[in-house]
Amino acid sequence: MPVTAVVGAQWGDEGKGRMVDWLAQDADLVIRFQGGDNAGHTVVNQHGKFALHIVPSGIFNPATNCVIGAGTVVSPGGLLEEIRSLAAAQIPLSNLWVEKRAHVVLPYHRTLDGLQEKGRGGKEIGTTKRGIGPCYADKSARAGVRMGDLLRPTYLRERLSQTLEQKNRLLAYYGEAELTMDGLLAECVAWGEALKERIVDTLPIVRRAVHEGKNVLLEGQLGVMRDLDWGTYPYVTSSNPLVGAAGAGLPPTAIDRVIGVVKAYSTAVGAGPFPTELHDDVGAFLRKAGAEYGATTGRPRRCGWYDAVAVGHAAWLNGFSSLAVTKLDELDGMDELKICTGYKLDGKTIDYVPDTPEMEEVEPILESWPGWKASTLEARRWDDLPKPARAYLHRIAELAGVPLEFVSVGAEREQLLELHLSPWFRGRLRR
Ligand code: GDP
Ligand code: IMO
Ligand code: MG
Repeated sequence: MPVTAVVGAQWGDEGKGRMVDWLAQDADLVIRFQGGDNAGHTVVNQHGKFALHIVPSGIFNPATNCVIGAGTVVSPGGLLEEIRSLAAAQIPLSNLWVEKRAHVVLPYHRTLDGLQEKGRGGKEIGTTKRGIGPCYADKSARAGVRMGDLLRPTYLRERLSQTLEQKNRLLAYYGEAELTMDGLLAECVAWGEALKERIVDTLPIVRRAVHEGKNVLLEGQLGVMRDLDWGTYPYVTSSNPLVGAAGAGLPPTAIDRVIGVVKAYSTAVGAGPFPTELHDDVGAFLRKAGAEYGATTGRPRRCGWYDAVAVGHAAWLNGFSSLAVTKLDELDGMDELKICTGYKLDGKTIDYVPDTPEMEEVEPILESWPGWKASTLEARRWDDLPKPARAYLHRIAELAGVPLEFVSVGAEREQLLELHLSPWFRGRLRR
């Protein structure tokens, strides 16, 4: 299908990078449409293992144009570092473009991210401290600097002169060293110089690909539960991980397919309600078996049972065409699995994600499923999976009301089952 979006359906780290790497094998264009280098998208393929932060996960196909879209926020120093490490692994990068309109994460954004977290006194969001919130705040306040501005020093000085004084007052309030205009400008100009071949108006690339019916992938960052509008605010990121056409540079009607990526259980990094969290041995087992540590910050991820309410929220808001279930293999060997099918709130059962203060109060309603003792690592077809694994997957699809299209049974590119969308699933859709 020409335009496919790949988005996270839980709390992030669902395996979006893994899925985009797979799908990009025959994609002409991949666009990261929101977020910044708070992302850690892991890709394991014949070139090695990579944790991509801002570079689209289609970069391993030299025939794929990779666009860092207008909806993103870019740390130029981080991007240059990522380019250097990919180049060191012999990955061709002449196909990597940065939209001129994407916003720049400036050094003071990062500093302020850390300082604001400290100021939350026990109610930290647990941000990645990559400056994401402060940068998007400036974007909305129309006080931001955009990637294209790095190529226009005179204009850039004018833009910065409107905000630097205010930022310095804020830094002084926190007891931090102030920044000089000349120093900041010199850093920006050096970034512009290093990236000038890549900073372009990406709209012609995107429009051409869509008009010519090329395979286009939209790569989301994070997951719906951290969406600025529909996640557990304020424990969210500062952009919209929901399927987003605007940040990519195409109309919503151009999107033909939306793949929701879900882990076969749940994980979250950072604070905020996470109803199925396990503080016991099972949680510790999932963290260990699944190597659940942040790809960007290295923090241990909180682990819990699969939450069908959260995924249902994601399915509705994104209009999923299909699901890609990842990390099924991590459940191999477990005696029993649980799926959260609803929440108890004030003695009543609900099947939706309520607003945050209520979400902090809910108790998960869990149903039990038998585990399987066999390994799924070598499975490549539906029939290769143990029967209880198939039943578990059926239930996930049924509760989401979305057919299964992919099941991932390992981090390696080829450890994937590509399923035909059977009438069985379609017939059982809830909505
Ligand atoms: P993303 O942010 O959504 O791209 O996901 P992350 O890369 O942060 O986290 C997913 C982790 O799971 C990475 O370490 C992947 O290499 C790994 N992974 C993805 N799919 C599978 C799978 O099916 N099985 C196993 N064992 N690991 C997987
Ligand atoms: P990928 O794309 C998991 C979380 C942080 C914090 C909240 C806000 O790899 O799935 P921010 O730095 O964005 O202001 O932090 O969002 N968070 C992520 N959690 N995966 C990510 O990205 C994340 N990006 C941000 O832990 O709770
Ligand atoms: Mg990640």
